[in-house]
Amino acid sequence: MKAVTRQVTGIAVAYFMGAAIASSQQPRAENPLMAEQVFKNVKVLKGIPVGEFMDTMGFFAASLGLNCVYCHVEQSMENWDKFAEDVPRKETARAMILMVNAINKGSFGGRRALTCYSCHRGAEHPKVVPSLADQYTVPQEDPNEIEIVKDAPQGPSADQILDKYIQALGGAQRLASLTTFAGQGTYEGYDSYHVKVPLEIYAQAPGERTIIAHTQNGDSTTTFDGHAGWVAAVDKPVHLLPLLPGPELDGARLDADLCFPAGIKQALAQWRNGFPVTTIEDREVQVLQGIAGGGSRVKLYFDSKTGLLARQLRYTNTIVGTIPIQIDYSDYREVAGVKMPFHWIVTWTGGQSTMELNAVQANVSMEAAKFSKPAPAVVTKAVAR
Ligand code: HEC
Ligand code: HEC
Repeated sequence: MKAVTRQVTGIAVAYFMGAAIASSQQPRAENPLMAEQVFKNVKVLKGIPVGEFMDTMGFFAASLGLNCVYCHVEQSMENWDKFAEDVPRKETARAMILMVNAINKGSFGGRRALTCYSCHRGAEHPKVVPSLADQYTVPQEDPNEIEIVKDAPQGPSADQILDKYIQALGGAQRLASLTTFAGQGTYEGYDSYHVKVPLEIYAQAPGERTIIAHTQNGDSTTTFDGHAGWVAAVDKPVHLLPLLPGPELDGARLDADLCFPAGIKQALAQWRNGFPVTTIEDREVQVLQGIAGGGSRVKLYFDSKTGLLARQLRYTNTIVGTIPIQIDYSDYREVAGVKMPFHWIVTWTGGQSTMELNAVQANVSMEAAKFSKPAPAVVTKAVAR
């Protein structure tokens, strides 16, 4: 992997968290908090929800292959207020957003044909001379970039791949007999300073899920109750945010649905196969695509040998381009006769987190409160870095 450390874009949280908005100012779902309501110096990326605004920052970081403080002052890492300060590169980035918009409008009928990534390709300075080395070597395939090929030789159908998956997990009958589970393990991410901290997960069929990371600075909770979802996290600009219809809710719903995969065929619609076979870490995988209820495109990668789900890849559209979110599943173990991944890694443009379970209790009784709207995250303690 290229320059991972440079690309780690996460922001360490600090105790003051100046920009955090009190819960009383929470909007209703139909009236999301806009970037300019939360941040102080938004001049171009106005009129988009806070979550999408933060995703545009991840898109920039990924496109230029650099972390947040490349375009912001160093102190922003400890103090959200500092992101508002203008520095030359931030001004350049603003001008670039306007340039890209103008080109797309003028030359591509307003379609987002050109993005930061088109030119920058993960570098601060776009290249101007073509590379002979690139031209004459076979590039390593990125399984995330695989797309459906028209008239591809017909492999197994979506139904066959999903049936094999259900079979590999233990079969429909056993899956149906698992109705709740609680798990404990560890979480590791930028918001835990890449140290393992305690993790709890609660899930209830057909599709409710809560996951809590007990970070050094306080608890970060993501909840989906089957209809609505929330993130209450200490490292976010707002300490409780409802998940918005579209990619945010689609993602939370799919993560919950995948805890009880008996209904996987209904979890997504418009299933498509016809992807070339590809590999993830030398394991051959079969790829399916589906569309979630809110319109998000999702690819699922199944290990050709074991039939188990190896990767989920979903896409989030932002005003400046589309960002991918990847979840890699491994260490499948049996819980009440059903195979469950005990290890998963979430990778997105803003960071990477690793979840590891060490104990899971099946079919435990579960209070409804486990899946209700969490309280705003409370920053408990600062950790010197
Ligand atoms: C390529 C440059 C670039 C990178 C990299 C970048 N930003 Fe920004 N950021 C900007 C620009 C430009 C603005 C102002 C946008 C506007 O005026 O509409 C901004 C604004 C912000 C704001 C709003 C501040 C305020 O109060 O007005 C926050 C918060 C922020 N960025 C966080 C981040 C985080 C977190 C990262 C890393 C994931 C990041 N940025 C990476 C260019 C960048
Ligand atoms: C059409 C090609 C193109 C696109 C699209 C593009 N850029 Fe650039 N960008 C450039 C070029 C060329 C430079 C100048 C590099 C140099 O001076 O070597 C540059 C420079 C920059 C710099 C200053 C780098 C430095 O430190 O000198 C930033 C920051 C930047 N771009 C951000 C962005 C962002 C954010 C986007 C998307 C909104 C974007 N660019 C889209 C071509 C592009």
